[in-house]
Amino acid sequence: MNIENILKKYSKDKSYLLEIMHDVKESRENKYLSLNDLKVISKYLNINLSAAYGAATFYSMFSLKPQAKYIIKICSSTVCHIKKSYNILSFLKSLLNCDDENLSKDGLFAVSEAECLGLCDISPSMMINNQVYGDLDENSIKRIVEELKNGSSGA
Ligand code: FES
Repeated sequence: MNIENILKKYSKDKSYLLEIMHDVKESRENKYLSLNDLKVISKYLNINLSAAYGAATFYSMFSLKPQAKYIIKICSSTVCHIKKSYNILSFLKSLLNCDDENLSKDGLFAVSEAECLGLCDISPSMMINNQVYGDLDENSIKRIVEELKNGSSGA
């Protein structure tokens, strides 16, 4: 859906700023808001561009840069730590050729550590987008990454 069609869903009430920004972000393949998006939204709501920019930079759910297709969060809390989640994290970063910002070389994956994911019974565990994975080891990590690259995973 293009931005004009998204705007048609909302009245010009300023209180819709976050909802509109969310819908626009979700409509973008790389889940981010461009400066032009913010200009169009602020013009529609008759607010300063700085207000839209401020909201986009304040809330962690928004980004002004293209986002990886797959957001990987590896649990580093106690149970997973004991089960060597750090080794899994290192292996995954190496496998994906992650840069200093933990983005894969191909831009498909972003890797980060997370607090307990509530999956301690299947630790070490991780989430990729909204999909959970547990009992991880190097073989399962390789298989999961391969499936995602081939588009044969539901993440
Ligand atoms: S400690 Fe890792 S899921 Fe709970």
